[in-house]
Amino acid sequence: VIGVGLVGAGYWGPNLLRNFADAAECRVVAVADRSRAQLEPLGRRYPTVELLTDAKEVIEHPDVDAVVVATPVSTHYEIARSALEAGKHVLVEKPLAANADQGRRLLEEAERRGRVLMVDHTFIYTGAVRCIHDLVRRGELGELYYYDSVRINLGMFQSDVNVIWDLAAHDLAVLDHVVPARPVAVSATGSSHVAGNPEDIAYLTLHFDDSLIAHLHVNWLAPVKVRRTLIGGSRKMIVYDDLEPSEKVRVYDRGISARGSLRDLQIHYRAGDVWSPRLDVTEALAVVVAHFLACIAGRERPLSDGAAGLRVVRLLEAASRSLAERGRPVELGPG
Ligand SMILES: NC(=O)c1ccc[n+]([C@@H]2O[C@H](COP(=O)([O-])OP(=O)(O)OC[C@H]3O[C@@H](n4cnc5c(N)ncnc54)[C@H](O)[C@@H]3O)[C@@H](O)[C@H]2O)c1
Repeated sequence: VIGVGLVGAGYWGPNLLRNFADAAECRVVAVADRSRAQLEPLGRRYPTVELLTDAKEVIEHPDVDAVVVATPVSTHYEIARSALEAGKHVLVEKPLAANADQGRRLLEEAERRGRVLMVDHTFIYTGAVRCIHDLVRRGELGELYYYDSVRINLGMFQSDVNVIWDLAAHDLAVLDHVVPARPVAVSATGSSHVAGNPEDIAYLTLHFDDSLIAHLHVNWLAPVKVRRTLIGGSRKMIVYDDLEPSEKVRVYDRGISARGSLRDLQIHYRAGDVWSPRLDVTEALAVVVAHFLACIAGRERPLSDGAAGLRVVRLLEAASRSLAERGRPVELGPG
């Protein structure tokens, strides 16, 4: 049985705890949070779990084989690095680290120690994104034209990161997973509406080598919650609405074909069937937890490994740099 220790029991940590506690292959040994108030309700629900106030005690605990990091982004690197150095496997919340340099060091440390380093890119483990991944990779959409996502709502302001690092991290992880091509440049604009706080609204454009283009809109100041992604291709198009209770993914057999020369151009519109594939409704975090444990046991290899985490962090970093320069495109360059 794999001994698991969790660091960070704020908003997201308890969801991880619940899923690890439900998994047969592991035992949650200890949870640490700086704030005793966060730990108190967990004590009643999980009486066998040790509650600690210092991350170090979880990391150094002899019964802990794997450390789960659910603290603010600015602390991921320190905690994850110490855990790897102590020979533990690590699952880090998204985004992997606060900058690419830290991300690279975590990858190197995991490699050196032969330990699993996985990032919780939760959305790629949802039934909806798994289905979209299969449709795109099977070529159902044809040539990819665009990826367009809107992830907006009111609130959950984070003080240590801007809205890009909080919300666009999800879309970049999905994009990285679903789209085979890698972006070559990113431009971002945005602004802050609370004095002294990071940007709360941002628009990102990702450029690729060909005509594929991606646009991400993230906002903490929207009156309504929207979680919608459009993926357009030459043969079919997908609308993914994560707030839809059942038909989250719709596939449209719609598009255009152009014939003739420039002077005599004829555009034909195709409006065929719309269908909604049946999706696996297993909670994404349960899939994340089972996959992480299978990776530790050597049966699987992490889908959202350190390298995927680093690719997302590089994009986040480039987007923040572009944002600071009012949208100047920032080239991504090789690894
Ligand atoms: N995958 C997802 O869908 C998802 C959703 C929400 C948050 N997250 C991620 O989870 C992480 C935590 O976010 P949150 O919203 O739960 O934040 P939060 O502020 O609600 O909770 C963080 C907790 O960590 C504790 N903490 C901070 N530093 C610590 C340290 N050094 N040692 C021990 N405890 C410490 C704090 O006391 C707090 O209780 C972030 O990385 C965030 O991006 C992921």
